[in-house]
Amino acid sequence: MIFHKPILFSAVQPSGKLTIGNYIGTMRHWSQMQNDYECLYCIADLHSLTIQKKNFSLKESILDTLSFYLACGVDPNKSIIFVQSHVYQHSQLNWILNCFSQFSELLRMTQFKIKRITENNYIKKTNVGLFNYPILMASDILLYQTNFVPVGQDQKQHLELTRKIAHRVNALYGKIFTLPTPLISQYGSKIMSLLEPRKKMSKSDINKKNVIFLLDDISDVILKIKNAVTDSEKLSKIYYDIEKKPGISNLLEIFSAITNKEINVLSKELEGVMYAEFKNMVATHLSNFLSKLQKSYIKYRSDESYLKKIAYEGAIKAQLKSEKTIQNIYSKLGLFSFFK
Ligand code: TRP
Repeated sequence: MIFHKPILFSAVQPSGKLTIGNYIGTMRHWSQMQNDYECLYCIADLHSLTIQKKNFSLKESILDTLSFYLACGVDPNKSIIFVQSHVYQHSQLNWILNCFSQFSELLRMTQFKIKRITENNYIKKTNVGLFNYPILMASDILLYQTNFVPVGQDQKQHLELTRKIAHRVNALYGKIFTLPTPLISQYGSKIMSLLEPRKKMSKSDINKKNVIFLLDDISDVILKIKNAVTDSEKLSKIYYDIEKKPGISNLLEIFSAITNKEINVLSKELEGVMYAEFKNMVATHLSNFLSKLQKSYIKYRSDESYLKKIAYEGAIKAQLKSEKTIQNIYSKLGLFSFFK
């Protein structure tokens, strides 16, 4: 297959139950993107190893994540869907790129700094995988000569590092890597916690009332939206202002993503509507959407042999593409090959 459209790479870690934040920030756009780009959708299982959890089955989580990809409308006939660890080239390139990355650059990564520190500001014991994480990400992206990477704000710095590494290799060895451009959507790239709307919604939050999981019972979804924090502005007007009204702005982002309507259009439509009524509307739309998604998910998840077939075929296609980049860089670096 020759790629004619620009190449797009995206990935999610199979590290637990997915939230509406994952869906709205990332997976919501995947189906549509298949028309405009040649898409690679990866399940970043090697990244998940950086955080080890008790009583957690990575294998189950990989299959769960794959089922969600399909339920969100990713079509294996249009896109390459694969599991990162099945394509050994990711680890191979990772080692090479380690040798083109600087210790100080990785120390500056905000995500690393955050993950490393406990709530009371102590430095945790940290595995080297967590430090190396951004370079594995760079390998994911650069293996496929990716043009675009949809990312949330929190991953933007990792993409800048990826470009830096690519540029550094290219400057020494000629054009080996395409420099990827981040695609960051104005709204919806960061869904916040329901009770603490200045904090990102996170699947690992201990307070489950902050988070809506894609597989939550519909009755819980409704309750969680109804309990979401708003504000005490006298004229309870619904408009977007992340500083003054983080709770309402977050609900507007969720509502906009689910209804596919622009936030400014919605704010006009919602003139005169009270907060409680607005929450009812969000809860109804979100629960209708989630119950459809859950039905489709369950259908895919119950057919493991189909899921394994998709992962197998995706891995073969991804290996073929990535091997070209590996062969190219091996030969430029002077690594001896049996085949040439
Ligand atoms: N780090 C990303 C996340 O947790 C997942 C990821 C892994 C990724 N490799 C990637 C995202 C390459 C974009 C491109 O959200």
